[in-house]
Amino acid sequence: MVLKRALIFLGPPGAGKGTQAKRIAESCGLPHLSTGDMFRDAVSRGTALGRLAQPIMERGELVPDDLVMKLVEERLSETDCARGFVFDGFPRTLAQAGQLDRILESRGFGKPLVVDFAVAESELLRRLSGRWTCSVGGEIYNIYDAPPKRPGVCDLDGGKLVQRADDRPEVVKERLVAYERQTKPLTDYYRQQGVLETIDAGAGVEQVYRAVREVLNGAKRS
Ligand code: AP5
Repeated sequence: MVLKRALIFLGPPGAGKGTQAKRIAESCGLPHLSTGDMFRDAVSRGTALGRLAQPIMERGELVPDDLVMKLVEERLSETDCARGFVFDGFPRTLAQAGQLDRILESRGFGKPLVVDFAVAESELLRRLSGRWTCSVGGEIYNIYDAPPKRPGVCDLDGGKLVQRADDRPEVVKERLVAYERQTKPLTDYYRQQGVLETIDAGAGVEQVYRAVREVLNGAKRS
C-alpha cells in the first residue's frame, strides 16, 4: 500500500499504537517515528537529551515541547521521510500539534490522517502489566496475548526481553493522567479539522490491524 501522507496514531498508553504502527509503516514502506522510542534510545546512549528526558519519563510526565520538536524536526529532515511517515505517540500536546501543522505545510504535505485508538482503561492496565519488549530489536510482546516462544527471549533475534521502567503501576497512573489532561484534547483539535478517525482498539491485534487498514483505504479513496 502506498500512502503519501503523514499518519498519526493517537491514543492512551498501552492502546496498541506501537504494535500497529510498526506493521502499518512496514506495509506502507514508510518510517515508523515513535518519539517514545527516540527518547528511550537517547536515555540508553546517555546523551544530553537522554539525561534530561530520563527523570521526566520515569515520573510518567511529558517531555517539554521544545525538546520534542527539536528531535522530530531533525528526524523529519532525513531522506526516508520525504514521502510520509507514521507517528506513534506524537504529537501529544496542542502546542506540538500546531507546530507539526506548520512543519507539514512547509514540507508540502497536506493535513495528516489521525487514527484515534479507543480502549477501556481496565484493558490498558492489563496490556501494560503484561508488556515485554526486546532490548535488541524492539519487538513488542505480551505475556497474556502475544507471548514469546521462549520466556524472556525474542523470537526474532534472540534478544533479552525487558519490562519498561515506566510500566510500573504508579507510573502508569501518572501517564494516564498526562494523557487525559494534555493529549486527549487533540481529539477535538483533529476532529474539527475533519481528519480524525476513531477505531475500537480494544479488540485483538488482527482485528485492530484490519480496522486501521480500512481507515487508510478509505482515506486513499476519498
Ligand atoms: P511512549 O513510548 O510513546 O508511550 P505511550 O504513548 O505511553 O504508549 P505505549 O508505548 O506505552 O503504548 P502503545 O500504545 O504503543 O502500546 P503497545 O503497542 O506497546 O512514551 C513514553 C514516554 O516518553 C512518555 O510518557 C513521555 O514521557 C515521553 N514522550 C514520548 N513522546 C512524547 C511527546 N510527543 N511529547 C512529550 N513526551 C513524550 O501495546 C501495549 C501492550 O499491549 C503490548 O504488550 C502489546 O503486545 C499489547 N497489545 C497491543 N495491541 C493489543 C491488542 N489489540 N490486543 C491485546 N494486546 C495488545
